[in-house]
Amino acid sequence: MNRRTFFYSCSFSAAAVVFTGCDKTSKKSDKATSVIENTKNIAIDNFEPFTQKLKIPKVIDFEHIAKAKFNAQKSLFPIYDGKKTDVLTFQDELPNPTIRIKKDDDFELDFINSLEKPTIIHWHGLLVPQEMDGHPKDAIATQMTKEYRYKINQRAGTFWYHTHPHGRTGEEIYYGLSGLYIIEDDDEKALNLPSGEFELPLIIQDRRFDKEKNLIYKETPQDNNGVLGDVIIVNSTPYPYTNVKNTKYRLRILNGSSARTYKLAFEGIEDFMLIGTDGGLLEEPIIVKDLLIAVAERIDIIVDFKDKKVGESVTLKTLGFKEASNFITNPAYPNFGAKMDIMRFKITELSTENSLQIPKKLSTITKMKASDASKNRVITMEIIEGGIWTLNKKPYDMHRVDERVKLGSTEIWEIKNSAHMAHPFHMHGVHFQVLERTSSIDFPTDKGYKDTVLVMPLESVRIIVKFTIPGLFVHHCHILEHEDHSMMANFLVE
Ligand code: C2O
Ligand code: CU
Ligand code: CU
Repeated sequence: MNRRTFFYSCSFSAAAVVFTGCDKTSKKSDKATSVIENTKNIAIDNFEPFTQKLKIPKVIDFEHIAKAKFNAQKSLFPIYDGKKTDVLTFQDELPNPTIRIKKDDDFELDFINSLEKPTIIHWHGLLVPQEMDGHPKDAIATQMTKEYRYKINQRAGTFWYHTHPHGRTGEEIYYGLSGLYIIEDDDEKALNLPSGEFELPLIIQDRRFDKEKNLIYKETPQDNNGVLGDVIIVNSTPYPYTNVKNTKYRLRILNGSSARTYKLAFEGIEDFMLIGTDGGLLEEPIIVKDLLIAVAERIDIIVDFKDKKVGESVTLKTLGFKEASNFITNPAYPNFGAKMDIMRFKITELSTENSLQIPKKLSTITKMKASDASKNRVITMEIIEGGIWTLNKKPYDMHRVDERVKLGSTEIWEIKNSAHMAHPFHMHGVHFQVLERTSSIDFPTDKGYKDTVLVMPLESVRIIVKFTIPGLFVHHCHILEHEDHSMMANFLVE
């Protein structure tokens, strides 16, 4: 397809997306809540879950193209079949494309901002020069273009991209501006993990819709503590199903929600295998029965449908994670503790390839030791007067340097949460390891490289991080409404 035609023939005429914010009363009734308790959680009347087919993002593969183009724009797209709603996209459709690129290859993308306000793309989890990272101060004005050019200089893994304008990241991601970014390398290829039709990308997000099936964002002041929705979409499809064979699948899962932490489990399958985290593969697989995934985290898992017969199905769901918060969120929507269905796998075909084994040794992770660190820092997570979420009690200022770090040094950052709500702490431009945490909750993902770590209520988590890229980067809470107001800070590596 001719890209240029594709971009410019599509409408900017889409009826203006109305971001009215907080003027709606919570009219949703307790109905939503009670349906959730029955784990049916269908907010829209007459919608049957597991009837819309899972959409698989199209792939932009840098093995076959040299350069891509993204144009952040308003689009009309049917999240619910047959009913278009106002969304934001990079290529006029949802889900946005998945980027696939190999280690050592060159990434080239021209980004055009066709929104009304400045914005910028950030490559979450990528180790790229500061001017390519998508710092909020680098937002480009409407109708401007930014050229992204960088080399992939890190091992294989599942990453993602999203816009990152100061104060509007939550809204832009909510309406659609995010996608997956997969890096491959020869070491991982050699493992012969499930691939092709047996590798599925799943972007899980909770959303709110009005009766006309239009997306709605913030409605009440409580939503500033985190927007929780009552409809789960996967790859922009509400409660989808997908047909599978009775064999092993690799699922690359991203929690692309605003605030919700999921405790994932499969109804009908006892356990599954965690093989990778934010920063790529673990050293060895870990067998789990359920797994927490906070906002912005990625998990790479293997699920095996081998014991299922054709005609059976398996539901991916969240068991609820009430430990994440006793903060007041909008009562019209299911809180952090809610159990909800997510999607369904329908076993429709016998597989001929049941023999594929997952290797016991996946990769090598060099453990960083506390004694490698030349400095300790404390970052506090607090809510201050006026209900403003902060790091170290300071609302974010794009131009203030909050932490100065020596290039090449290793540091321990102690992230101290004094709030009764869990916060996923994220850093740009680095991958870190978790040294220890004070709560007793088990996070198997702590064993891998991370760029985002969930810090539980009143918990301290100590992470160790080596700073290898010079420049100004941000660290922030990845609950989108918190990072927007104003739980973010700058660190300068020099
Ligand atoms: Cu997903 Cu500042 O990042
Ligand atoms: Cu990031
Ligand atoms: Cu937070």
